[in-house]
Amino acid sequence: MLKLGVVGTSWIARSFIDATSLTEKFTFSAVYSRHLDTAAKFSADFENVQQFDQFDQFLATDLDAIYIASPNALHFEQAKAAILVGHNVITEKPAFSNPSELTEILQLADEKNILFFEAARNIHEQSFTLIKDFLADKTITGADFTYSKYSSKMPALLRGELPNKFNPKFSGGLLADLGVYLLYAAIFWFGKPQDAHYDAVVLPSGVDVSGVGSLDYTDFKVAIKCAGNFNSYLPSEIYTTDGTLILDGVNAISTAKFIAVDGSKIKIELTAPKHSLYDEAVKFAEILTNKDFEAARKLQSFAKDVANTSYKMRQSAGIIFDADKK
Ligand SMILES: NC(=O)c1ccc[n+]([C@@H]2O[C@H](COP(=O)([O-])OP(=O)(O)OC[C@H]3O[C@@H](n4cnc5c(N)ncnc54)[C@H](OP(=O)(O)O)[C@@H]3O)[C@@H](O)[C@H]2O)c1
Repeated sequence: MLKLGVVGTSWIARSFIDATSLTEKFTFSAVYSRHLDTAAKFSADFENVQQFDQFDQFLATDLDAIYIASPNALHFEQAKAAILVGHNVITEKPAFSNPSELTEILQLADEKNILFFEAARNIHEQSFTLIKDFLADKTITGADFTYSKYSSKMPALLRGELPNKFNPKFSGGLLADLGVYLLYAAIFWFGKPQDAHYDAVVLPSGVDVSGVGSLDYTDFKVAIKCAGNFNSYLPSEIYTTDGTLILDGVNAISTAKFIAVDGSKIKIELTAPKHSLYDEAVKFAEILTNKDFEAARKLQSFAKDVANTSYKMRQSAGIIFDADKK
């Protein structure tokens, strides 16, 4: 069993632990919180979980991997400290604030023989590979990807508070939060775009609450829409010379239908994952167990392309994080 240390105690950390438990490859062994009572409440459903409110003591624990689910801007220092003491690291998406941080962490991980992962759950779903296979013999002519979800943090924002999600100090904003799934989907299926732009609705804090972007490929464009201040029920589509593939989403896919140019329809059979984070947890367990650096590097290459594209888009919209000024 892989001993898992967890940083952060919000619902996503619990969700990751539940997914890793389902794989029967990980055991939740330690948690770091700023407050011991939060750590105790968080681990109440589990046995033998060491609880820490001091990060260096948490890092001194015998662990096989550390999963970081803190606000975005904290991932870098926490991942760096974990790698320096020899832990493998999984950071929640977006892994870091900008590509420079990612480059530094990847170099350090290489030097120290450490496995590093960005937890971008969508591309690990089996459905993503099925769609990739389905598109293999087709010529792409465009795509339209949407992920807009009314954030649970909107009421606080509207009350005049500044939740981490909307704070440039924590590298927030919707492109970083939801847009990252759209970039992962596009890059997983079509490769890295030549160029990218983003036209954002920017909050007084300086980060985006919504935006419309474009990924420019040699022969086609991918439209990107993300928002945290409304729900969108639009599907996502991929256009090809043979017809249109309609997906209910690209953050997660549960239905896929292809309508050929002659109007004939093909339903692509998809199997829902056991848990939204299950497929990524299985993949991470496999790579950690086999110390498969080649597989980890393949995933890191997606992470690099996503980070560079997202940064380009952010720059085009004039969105600057505090971390960019360091
Ligand atoms: N994969 C997914 O589906 C998914 C879904 C949601 C979020 N995420 C990612 O998960 C990460 C966490 O997101 P979240 O919405 O859970 O963030 P969050 O609620 O703002 O913070 C997560 C945890 O970090 C600690 N924390 C909060 N504010 C802090 C501060 N000012 N300084 C130090 N620690 C602080 C808290 O733990 P303690 O109080 O215990 O210290 C908190 O439980 C983000 O990178 C996000 O993008 C991924």
